[in-house]
This record gives sequence, structure tokens and C-alpha cells, in this order.
Amino acid sequence: MFPQVRMRRLRSGKIRDLVRETSLGVDDLIYPMFVDETTDSSVDISSMPGVQRLPLDKVVDDAKEAADLGIPALVLFGIPKSKDAVGTCSYGEDDIVQQAVRSIKEDLGKDMVVITDVCMCEYTDHGHCGIVDMETEEVLNDPTLDILGKIATSHVEAGADIVAPSGMMDGMIGAIRNSLDENHFENTPIMSYAAKYTSAFYGPFREAADSAFQFGDRSTYQMDPANSNEAIREAELDILEGADIIMVKPALPYLDIIYRIKNEFKMPTAAYNVSGEYSMLKAAAEKGWLDEKLVMYESLLSIKRAGADMILTYFAKDLARMLK
Ligand code: PBG
Repeated sequence: MFPQVRMRRLRSGKIRDLVRETSLGVDDLIYPMFVDETTDSSVDISSMPGVQRLPLDKVVDDAKEAADLGIPALVLFGIPKSKDAVGTCSYGEDDIVQQAVRSIKEDLGKDMVVITDVCMCEYTDHGHCGIVDMETEEVLNDPTLDILGKIATSHVEAGADIVAPSGMMDGMIGAIRNSLDENHFENTPIMSYAAKYTSAFYGPFREAADSAFQFGDRSTYQMDPANSNEAIREAELDILEGADIIMVKPALPYLDIIYRIKNEFKMPTAAYNVSGEYSMLKAAAEKGWLDEKLVMYESLLSIKRAGADMILTYFAKDLARMLK
């Protein structure tokens, strides 16, 4: 008790460094990239200052820049030149993500871990993450699983190091694991978007990935923001189906979920600091209301403190530069 105990004794100078419980480093970062088959030049994403959609021939340079900054991994999203109801352009050998993976791996090899987002929403004209029954507008779970297996396998054939399914279909991890194993990719890890919530914080991403849905919303497959126990069940099922890394998404409004999942499973845990979390800090900084570097650092540190081992963030290059 005070005055014998004084918490302030450990709060200054190098002592403060000695007692620090959490660290944030460049090794924790995964850099999201958008490769766009519909353009020849880089396109700014107005709702995400500093983020661009890149044509295929600019992707390698951007990935190299990330590697030079010491960032160990990137996650790739694709914007195809044509979309249809069943996402035909998502699993071909020469579709956009497959080409991008090949060129990045050719150039950077082991210097960059290439993760691919495995989902249908960027490739379907209706924008949903699965096959849709057009009469009832229902997103059909089981027919989608086959396609997810094909997409994942095509990514790994192109050279992807890790696949990251984000569509929140039941059984997707098992289906992808089976498909990879049948094709002798039993050593390729799956990073599952295990607890992915229906979130308005994805708003800017949908402009970035051109993946807005044409009807309904994603609430029949993404989780209700009100639920926490359900996230534990989601993670548990994905682990049983073979997920190697589990993800919580979004990150900042769901720090309690990151904390619970890390404590419950002790699995490698990722958190996705999503587009809305990025854009709101950028917007406030542009207005001069917040110090961008400080709030970026504090936000990402809080995600680590909650229990995440790695963070997918559009701030990856900014943070890496700041830490250099
Ligand atoms: C869907 C996907 C989404 C994001 C990543 N993968 C959007 C969605 O579910 O609508 C969002 C990422 C972000 O907001 O930064 N494949």
C-alpha cells in the first residue's frame, strides 16, 4: 500500500523500457495489396489515403519495397477483368492473383511470405462470398466449398505460401485442407478468418476491392458483432478442420475477442486492422486532429497487447519506416 508502494518508480527513463510487457516490431506485420487486372496504371483509393490498386507490372516493385523495409509477409487481393455469378475468374492458372503470386515469388522467393485471400466476393457480379440462389437470394454454403478448394489450390500451384479463406462458409477450412492435400500441398498452412464479424468498418475496402454486394448484406454468413462465445466456437471448429493460424477481424473494436481466442487456444493468432480502422485515423490526421504516427503505433500495439501474434494492416509500410 501507499506510501511503501509507488507505481511511478518504474515509469521513467530506461527502467520504463525494462518493464515493458508488449513489443511491436516489423516482424509482426502483414501488408495487404490489391492487384487490379482492369488497369494499366496505379489507381488511388480515395477512401484509403496512401493505398492503391496496382496493375500486375507494378506489384513486384511494391512487394520489393515492403521486403526492403523488412516486412515479412503480404496478403494479396485481386480485382479481375470480368465477373460472373460463379466467380469463374478466381481459380484459373492465368487469373490475376495467380499471375501476381508467380511474379512476386519469382523475384523475391523466400524473402517474402505470400499469403492469398481466398474468397469469391471480388469475382462475383453480385458481390457475395459464395454461390447464390438468384430466386431466393440465399448464399449457398455447400456448393461454394468446392470452388473455395479450387481457388486455394490454384493459388498454391502459383506459389502462394499460405492461403487465407475469408468467406465465412461453414466447413471451408476442411474443404480447402482436403483439396490442398489431394494435390500434395499438405505442407501449406491455412490462415483462417475464423471470427469475422459483419462490420461497417469494411466500407472503404469494398471500394478498394470493388467487392460491394448488389443486394442484401453479409449477415447470413459473417458474425453478429454482439457475440463473443460464438467466436470461440468458430475458432474451435476451424482448428479441428486444420487451420494453422486463426484470425479475428476487425481488430480494434474486437480486442476482447482477440484476447479470449488467444487465451483459449494458444494458437498463432492474427488480427486484421481493417480498412475503416485505417481510414478513420488517416482522416483525423489529415484534419490535424490526431498525431498520425502516435495513434498508429498505439493502435497496433494495443492489438499485440490483446494477444495477436501478427497484424494485417494498411499501415505496414508506414510503421516499418517509422521503426527504421
Ligand atoms: C472479403 C474480405 C473483406 C475484407 C477482407 N476480405 C470484405 C468483406 O467481407 O466485405 C475487408 C478488409 C478490410 O476492410 O480492410 N473477401
